[in-house]
Amino acid sequence: MSDRSLRGQRALVTGASSGIGEAIARAFADAGASVLVNYRSGRDDAERIVREIREKGGRGVPVHADVSKPEGCRRLFDAVQQELGGIDIVVANAGIQRDAAFTDLTLEDWRQVIDVNLTGQFLCAQEAVRCFRRQGLDTARSRALGKIVFTSSVHQAIPWAGHSNYASAKGGLKLLMETMAQELASEKIRVNAIAPGAIKTAINREAWESEAGRKRLLELIPYGRIGEPEDVAKVAVWLASDDSDYVVGTTMFVDGGMTLYPAFREGG
Ligand code: BGC
Repeated sequence: MSDRSLRGQRALVTGASSGIGEAIARAFADAGASVLVNYRSGRDDAERIVREIREKGGRGVPVHADVSKPEGCRRLFDAVQQELGGIDIVVANAGIQRDAAFTDLTLEDWRQVIDVNLTGQFLCAQEAVRCFRRQGLDTARSRALGKIVFTSSVHQAIPWAGHSNYASAKGGLKLLMETMAQELASEKIRVNAIAPGAIKTAINREAWESEAGRKRLLELIPYGRIGEPEDVAKVAVWLASDDSDYVVGTTMFVDGGMTLYPAFREGG
């Protein structure tokens, strides 16, 4: 991969005040992109991340917006225009979990997860495509008119008891991504997704915090370690760069083999 492979590009990362989004924002800045660091509740964290990006000579701007709301997404893209003068890369990453057994799941928790993890990504992607079209192609910057990377999950493929809202949102996201990729490729807009497995962040702290939890989790990961946010960020840099110019409509699983039916290692 070329060094500084995102030099001169303008990027937006939603849900970038923690976890995978934070790591992607930092890696983008390291690769030479100007980065809009979107947050909803983590203002202090977003400001600290931007400060640290600037201290390393990078360019970052924190922007508050709730991506599950159309006005939030519009505000985000107003900021894109104002702060960066346009956009080349959008990582629709913001996501939440509200877990419950199927019959205990409230409509409120069903809706919240669908609103953020699926509708929020749709709204953001729609604004992004409109923006790309207004700008037009600038091959000095990138071979593509624009790039969208969705943060999906292994649960776009693996059913997940006790998480029907989350798995439904991620399953929907898979076909949203593929449909968009098919519809927009002729305009030189590249749409792809990353499907992380168990990555050590706040969203799944309960699963990796205790020794017993870690042991149980590792049984699901053939590669024998829990992922770090940087494992995902490196793939995001590649997917956003011209190094992956011929990669269209693909989901990159970054999961240590979690999707390989590890229970079948013995027996079957
Ligand atoms: C979820 C995590 C979970 C991982 C693997 C992710 O999408 O957010 O909570 O640990 O999938 O199951």
